[in-house]
Amino acid sequence: MELCRLIYVSKMSKLMEISNFEDVAYSTSAKNYKRGITGILCHENRNFMQLLEGPPRVVNDLYRTILNDERHHSVTLLDYQPILSRAFPEWGMRIVFENFKVPDEYEGACSNSEFPPFPMNTGVALDIIYTHKD
Ligand SMILES: Cc1cc2nc3c(=O)[nH]c(=O)nc-3n(C[C@H](O)[C@H](O)[C@H](O)COP(=O)(O)O)c2cc1C
Repeated sequence: MELCRLIYVSKMSKLMEISNFEDVAYSTSAKNYKRGITGILCHENRNFMQLLEGPPRVVNDLYRTILNDERHHSVTLLDYQPILSRAFPEWGMRIVFENFKVPDEYEGACSNSEFPPFPMNTGVALDIIYTHKD
């Protein structure tokens, strides 16, 4: 089956408290998996970074929905491309809240372990995301 990968970053809106979002995030995982989407959602200091992988049509539809979600803003696409296999095949959505790790080589570039400033290079985003693969 043809697969694609989409990565974006965004900022949590003022409307939202992270405690509310945790419930939503965990409930989306089973829903994603059922429709063929897997991936990871990282959150740190009111920033989000999400990787979605699955059939392009399904990923595109979900991305459109997420874009219109007022609980975040400044959604910035970092990567969209075909992939041969999934990086998170067992995760409808792996959730990493507040304890995400920055690879050693980027320590200087990321103050207080926050996501690097926008716009982020795709290679850096993938390095950070893959730190949470296992
Ligand atoms: C940062 C962020 C990430 C989200 N990720 C997902 C996701 O992976 N899957 C999903 O179904 N909804 C996700 N949502 C929620 C969607 O924007 C939307 O509220 C939801 O899909 C609507 O589901 P419903 O049509 O079943 O009510 C996310 C929202 C935000 C703000």
